[in-house]
Amino acid sequence: SNGAAVHANGAELVPHSPLRQPFVIGVSGGTASGKTTVCDMIIQQLHDHRVVLINQDSFYRGLTAEESARAQDYNFDHPDAFDTEQLLECMGQLKHGLPVNVPIYDFTNHRRCSERFRKVNASDVIILEGILVFHDQRVRNLMDMKIFVDTDADIRLARRIRRDNFERGRSVISVLDQYGRFVKPAFEDFVLPSKKYADVIIPRGGDNHVAVDLIVQHIRTKLGMHDLCKIFPNVYVVQSTFQI
Ligand code: CTP
Repeated sequence: SNGAAVHANGAELVPHSPLRQPFVIGVSGGTASGKTTVCDMIIQQLHDHRVVLINQDSFYRGLTAEESARAQDYNFDHPDAFDTEQLLECMGQLKHGLPVNVPIYDFTNHRRCSERFRKVNASDVIILEGILVFHDQRVRNLMDMKIFVDTDADIRLARRIRRDNFERGRSVISVLDQYGRFVKPAFEDFVLPSKKYADVIIPRGGDNHVAVDLIVQHIRTKLGMHDLCKIFPNVYVVQSTFQI
């Protein structure tokens, strides 16, 4: 015998390997699809756990003065607009339980606030949200669960006009121009093709309470297994399937 514990049915028992790292959820979807609302709903329901939200938007590259002067010609919906290396570094730290400083992005000036950061502490659950979080394979590989928020394009455009006009200091004309030149083509070239990586597709975005309830239930099951292992580190689980 190799000394392994054996169940009454003969199956070999191995110590349950606890989920030491945080549970990472990726939330993607087109612009103004309701990603933030879905994330907020998940966070609210998981109030008894430590959950942090990381926005891909925080990792937008700051524009140079030259680029900034012609911001209307800049493609903010292309994968190259993001500093993915920095995002990976940050997620790597968090995954290992270390605190990080997340950059703060200013949508009005297309710049990073150079001296200010948002300090994010280690947590049980990390939610990474953004239009292109499923684009890079290395970023996808960090995720334990991938959610795509699927909302009709007309609803998204209507929300986008309202939001960019009120919150990001843009004129309606400039929003429509940017949408036709960059947002829609990049959605078709990069965002939509990454939908195939999703584990769960939520129709109607933030209005879908049933979908969010189901997702939260699944996360709770995963976290519950983790907690049990922390309390009973020597708990054994049956690894091989019992054959008749
Ligand atoms: N963007 C911009 N100007 C910048 C940087 C980004 O207009 N300086 C736009 C890009 O065109 C991109 C969008 O910001 O389409 C990404 O943000 P979005 O996903 O719309 O915002 P969230 O609040 O994350 O989305 P949701 O409404 O789904 O929560």
